[in-house]
Amino acid sequence: MDFKDILIKRRAINFFDPDRDVEESLLKTVIEDAAKAPSSYNLQPWKLMILRDHDKKSKLQPLAFDQPKVTEAPVILVVLADRDGWKEGNSTLESVFKNHVTSGKMQPEQREWFLGATQGLYGKSSESSQAFANKNAGLFCMSLMYAASAHGLETHPMDGFDHDGVKKELNISDNYWIPMLIAVGYLKPGVEINPKGWRQSYEEMVIK
Ligand SMILES: Cc1cc2nc3c(=O)[nH]c(=O)nc-3n(C[C@H](O)[C@H](O)[C@H](O)COP(=O)(O)O)c2cc1C
Repeated sequence: MDFKDILIKRRAINFFDPDRDVEESLLKTVIEDAAKAPSSYNLQPWKLMILRDHDKKSKLQPLAFDQPKVTEAPVILVVLADRDGWKEGNSTLESVFKNHVTSGKMQPEQREWFLGATQGLYGKSSESSQAFANKNAGLFCMSLMYAASAHGLETHPMDGFDHDGVKKELNISDNYWIPMLIAVGYLKPGVEINPKGWRQSYEEMVIK
């Protein structure tokens, strides 16, 4: 599919077919494709929880303004932004550095420089760690939605939920912030999608 078609085709779908599941292998492909997203220093400070179980989704729905798509969609992705993703000892950061060394991009003695750079940029305050986690996980979310679209799936991003309630319900540790839940599935048969909403024009977006 042409990228322009994906841009047009991706919509926030409100009505999912509850009887049509998303194949495990297809979802895996979507997630692996989405992982091509860019990130600060390639630190990829994101993780995912995949909810398919109806009981689990039912417990989530009241925490998400009772949005019916939480249970109607066969899959809910809970995206986790890692506020500690810049820290020494963080398993993803350590893998990134190890790969830099094995690929010859960095020398082992550059470790202190690398850790100092990530700490200096993202670890100065709780705001900078939060911003680091949000912006990178947000890009991953966008990638997930476009990848899903490219593979014939529909999605719906949601930030209408009780953040602390969801964290507690799913036993999510404090280093993670949840930028959004993403419902994934197929459009309910017979439902028509509303025309795409208003978008800013080039002139409105570009500030002179
Ligand atoms: C971060 C984010 C959070 C959103 N949260 C919700 C939500 O909780 N409930 C909802 O109905 N729509 C939600 N939306 C969907 C937007 O309303 C929708 O993307 C927007 O109206 C544009 O429509 P389109 O995605 O179909 O182009 C969210 C979108 C984003 C990007």
